Amino acid sequence: MTIPLITLNDGHTIPQLGYGVFKVDPADTERTVSDALEVGYRHIDTAAIYGNEEGVGAAIAKSGIPRDELYITTKLWNDRHDGDEPDKAIAESLDKLGLDAVDLYLVHWPTPAKDNYVHAWEKMIGIRERGLARSIGVSNHLVPHLERIVAETGVTPAVNQIELHPAYQQRDITEWATAHGVLIESWGPLGQGKYDLFGTDAVAAAAAATGRTPAQVVLRWHLQKGFIVFPKSVRAERMAENIDVFGFELDESQMAAIDALDPLDGSGRVGTHPNDLN
Ligand SMILES: NC(=O)c1ccc[n+]([C@@H]2O[C@H](COP(=O)([O-])OP(=O)(O)OC[C@H]3O[C@@H](n4cnc5c(N)ncnc54)[C@H](OP(=O)(O)O)[C@@H]3O)[C@@H](O)[C@H]2O)c1
Repeated sequence: MTIPLITLNDGHTIPQLGYGVFKVDPADTERTVSDALEVGYRHIDTAAIYGNEEGVGAAIAKSGIPRDELYITTKLWNDRHDGDEPDKAIAESLDKLGLDAVDLYLVHWPTPAKDNYVHAWEKMIGIRERGLARSIGVSNHLVPHLERIVAETGVTPAVNQIELHPAYQQRDITEWATAHGVLIESWGPLGQGKYDLFGTDAVAAAAAATGRTPAQVVLRWHLQKGFIVFPKSVRAERMAENIDVFGFELDESQMAAIDALDPLDGSGRVGTHPNDLN
């Protein structure tokens, strides 16, 4: 299975598809990540708050896969933005993961009411300079947050990881990202199963026409939009289904029908609004 590599604005490359471990029970994480590596995933997306970095690290160590063939992302949690907390947090994450450096480190949420996300971003820049993260980025940042961190530090994040799926496309952020060379990572790419994407006419029709599953159609839509995805499943058969998305294409009309699923009123959102998480 060859997964396309795309180039970030700092020159490093990232596999466009990976495996996410949000809500994977820490006790089950070594098993699920081992399954994902066995199936062919090489990019793993975790976070300190998921409580399962140790499981990710254990699976990596057991796999024997050379470090340079893996792409590992983790994230700085919201209560670690102040002072030197980010430096302590990355050290703890690396210890749990059993790594010298992560490939990508993200500020998980901007927590705008605390007004400390610019400081957190300055600390991320230092973390990258010290070689503890090859690339740095943000998550759940809205356009005003992005504009502010770039204006105040001069450093543009490599990615912005945001809730994004056909029912919630966040076009203002994706347009800003394209204009500024920031790649979009779609979290909840399948709508977390909370939003019935698979039951929509657009997805069902494309699945019938291509002989693929609705999940494969939705993931294919993300890839053709240029987004990075890491669907989560605890089941090996779904991991195999979700990675098998490079042998077909959606045509223009199928893409347009899925594009039209976002009513642009925010009703498709399944997670918390970034301004409300502090
Ligand atoms: N930055 C952030 O704030 C943030 C927030 C949320 C998520 N994330 C990241 O994004 C990753 C993916 O998002 P997500 O886990 O929230 O949601 P998701 O990948 O959209 O959806 C996961 C759900 O879909 C089910 N599923 C997976 N593959 C399926 C398939 N082929 N057919 C039918 N159902 C399927 C899974 O169930 P089973 O497990 O039972 O198969 C699970 O209930 C996370 O794991 C995490 O790494 C980041």
